[in-house]
Amino acid sequence: MTPSPQSFMHPITGVVCEPEVCTEDAVRASLIEVARSMQRLGINHGSAGNVSVRWHRGAADGMLITPSALPYEQCGVDDIVWVSIAAAQGTAAPQVDGVRRPSSEWRFHHDLYASRADARAVVHTHAPHCTALACLPQIQQQGIPAFHYMVAAAGGRDIRCAPYATFGTQALSDHVLAALTDRRACLLAHHGMIALGGALDSALALAVEVEWLARTYALALQLGTPAVLSDTEMDRVLDRFTRYRPDPLDDLLADEPDAHGRSAVPS
Ligand code: 13P
Repeated sequence: MTPSPQSFMHPITGVVCEPEVCTEDAVRASLIEVARSMQRLGINHGSAGNVSVRWHRGAADGMLITPSALPYEQCGVDDIVWVSIAAAQGTAAPQVDGVRRPSSEWRFHHDLYASRADARAVVHTHAPHCTALACLPQIQQQGIPAFHYMVAAAGGRDIRCAPYATFGTQALSDHVLAALTDRRACLLAHHGMIALGGALDSALALAVEVEWLARTYALALQLGTPAVLSDTEMDRVLDRFTRYRPDPLDDLLADEPDAHGRSAVPS
């Protein structure tokens, strides 16, 4: 079916959809479901962390974000808060629409959407292995290096750790934006982690992946000194990731020459 002129990218799945299948209440309900699923997935607990999704209201750019300090199990669609997105970070106070206070971390959610067109959903968690690593001076200085090729899932050759600042402050937001330059995920010193994506599903999936990487790196550190992949190899991985998607078999085989430069499907 050809998309109508009103069609847009679904904020949960990233799939193009029509307005009638994607109401604000449906997005609010999905936001709560994602926030609750963080505990089931082992990447968060209690009312820690927060989740947001970009949500325009007419011409007004904005985001829907979880409320502050409310356990996700008690959170209903009316507790989700809409916050406008101003052009520049840390300037005028945004408009807020809701019966609750937005997450205390609304600043870094806001500033990420204001500065990055690729950010359509942001997940912040206190994932245990990310948080444990983010307490080590070595990680705070160098981040998680390329001990495993999947580090590239966060967008680069390493996963940086943003320096510590008090939660909810503009200083923390500024550190987060710097650590996420050319990246989709980072650790927060003495705090947790952040992942962003083109939709809620992909941001959540990246948060799970980064927590797996942190757990595996912590395990490797207990066994010895992990070796690190070269910059050349990581650049090769990053290049291959640009084509890593569930395409039809024929396309993939045609794309993939073997070690001798031969294609499996004759062109
Ligand atoms: P909120 O409940 O205000 O979202 O704060 C939780 C948190 O993790 C702060 O970093």
